[in-house]
Amino acid sequence: MDSSNNNAVYYDDSVVRQFSIMAVVWGVVGMAVGVLIASQLAWPELNFGIPWLSYGRLRPLHTNAVIFAFGGSALFATSYYVVQRTCQTRLFMPKLASLTFWAWQLVILSAVVSLPLGYTQGKEYAELEWPIDLLIAVTWVSYAIVFFGTVGIRKVRHIYVANWFFGAFIIAVALLHIVNSVAIPAGWMKSYSAYAGVQDAMVQWWYGHNAVGFFLTAGFLGMMYYFIPKQAGRPVYSYRLSIVHFWALIFTYMWAGPHHLHFTALPDWTQSVGMVFSLILLAPSWGGMINGVMTLSGAWHKLRDDPILRFLIVSLSFYGMSTFEGPMMSIKTVNALSHYTDWTVGHVHSGALGWVGLITMGSLYYLIPRLFGKTKMHSVGAIELHFWMSTIGIVLYIAAMWIAGVMQGLMWRAVNPDGTLTYTFVESVKATYPFYVIRVAGGLLYLGGMLVMLWNTWKTAISGRSVKVAVPAVVAHA
Ligand code: HEM
Ligand code: HEM
Repeated sequence: MDSSNNNAVYYDDSVVRQFSIMAVVWGVVGMAVGVLIASQLAWPELNFGIPWLSYGRLRPLHTNAVIFAFGGSALFATSYYVVQRTCQTRLFMPKLASLTFWAWQLVILSAVVSLPLGYTQGKEYAELEWPIDLLIAVTWVSYAIVFFGTVGIRKVRHIYVANWFFGAFIIAVALLHIVNSVAIPAGWMKSYSAYAGVQDAMVQWWYGHNAVGFFLTAGFLGMMYYFIPKQAGRPVYSYRLSIVHFWALIFTYMWAGPHHLHFTALPDWTQSVGMVFSLILLAPSWGGMINGVMTLSGAWHKLRDDPILRFLIVSLSFYGMSTFEGPMMSIKTVNALSHYTDWTVGHVHSGALGWVGLITMGSLYYLIPRLFGKTKMHSVGAIELHFWMSTIGIVLYIAAMWIAGVMQGLMWRAVNPDGTLTYTFVESVKATYPFYVIRVAGGLLYLGGMLVMLWNTWKTAISGRSVKVAVPAVVAHA
């Protein structure tokens, strides 16, 4: 709604626009690095003998870029958009919101420079050195102030469920980041963890698993609960289920971390607790997935000609797949086969490309035209093309990794009657080669789809204008 009324109050959408555009840009960058490291695994000469192009330095660059730059920017964009619409108010402290944009981009640029230079704390998904960690903490607390401040000044009584998920994601990530990053500095870009030995490992995987649970899941469920009903034009299937989903999910995730440390020095009972909570986690995960998918009941025909809805719904089927597979992999006997193999990498990417990637793309395709005063993207055909490129890309990627992973696990444990190993390690590497090449092909398709999205976003932005949308003056009290 465009309004020329001078007394009108407008939503703060500039920051939403900035984060949305950067989500697409960082998506392209992060995935391009993903394709490069996937190619290096097939053709190691692709590091060209240059230290900062070596696999060990680019791999954390890939994970940081896709999770925190692509995923993070999309989460900032959608949460700022959704909290304003569902609370029918503009952002609390809009200048601080704008600051979170610039500070987050600074964090990303610091990662882009420091990781290839080899600065790292050596903790997966928490590699960045302490000065950058401090910047992240300040940015995140500012984000929390803006988000919860906006909820605090809401004009409707009810707090819509999407905000519960975004809120839990913001609080949990603050807690995880601050606790896991406690370190003793030993120079400007060097530090030692405050924890030692197995405690360090446990804190790290408490962080790592909840990074999956809150950064890669809860925030994106916030997107699901807003954008699926909007795009489908129907209310959430069961609001009651969404509340049960919320409490069950956030309670259970926190205890599942030890499944990353099966068969390590961690006490055995702790590993078993991790396994049990991971198995329980299947229930709320599937409850949430069913709630999202069933929102379409009675409107299934819309899937036929709405590619945005297809992105959103197919993302849920990958969510269901990866949250079935995860609990299975947490069973110790299954983990004995899957751990250290490419099966884990297949699981990661069915969640990352299938769930996180597709729900983000669907949500951004809903959002971007509205942010530029248009009713739809520049080209709907290009959205369709993107959908097929990414879906085929994911299938190639994850099928190749599943086959490679199970094969590796079986080769490593095969023994001859005399007790010697049947295969040398290098034989398993050789056998994996064709699957690494198939992954490169899948990754290229997925990246190609993202480039189509970048083009479509660019065309939509330049043919539109930065509209100001007025906050409705009359509000219904729920
Ligand atoms: C074009 C798309 C992508 C390609 C080709 C790609 C490729 C790769 C490769 C080759 C690895 C290293 C695997 C190994 O060390 O054996 C990796 C790791 C990883 N990627 Fe991606 N990736 C892509 C997109 C994404 C996206 C969108 C996300 C998240 C939203 C993501 C999250 C991760 C994570 C979390 C890891 C670490 C996995 C682990 O430690 O088990 N990737 N990726
Ligand atoms: C019910 C939900 C889930 C459970 C119980 C679960 C369980 C697991 C297990 C057992 C592993 C293997 C640990 C190992 O052997 O090292 C794993 C790895 C992983 N999972 Fe999941 N998973 C779930 C959902 C997801 C989803 C939805 C995503 C992504 C969006 C995801 C991302 C990851 C990542 C990134 C890793 C690799 C961590 C690393 O070693 O770097 N998981 N998960």
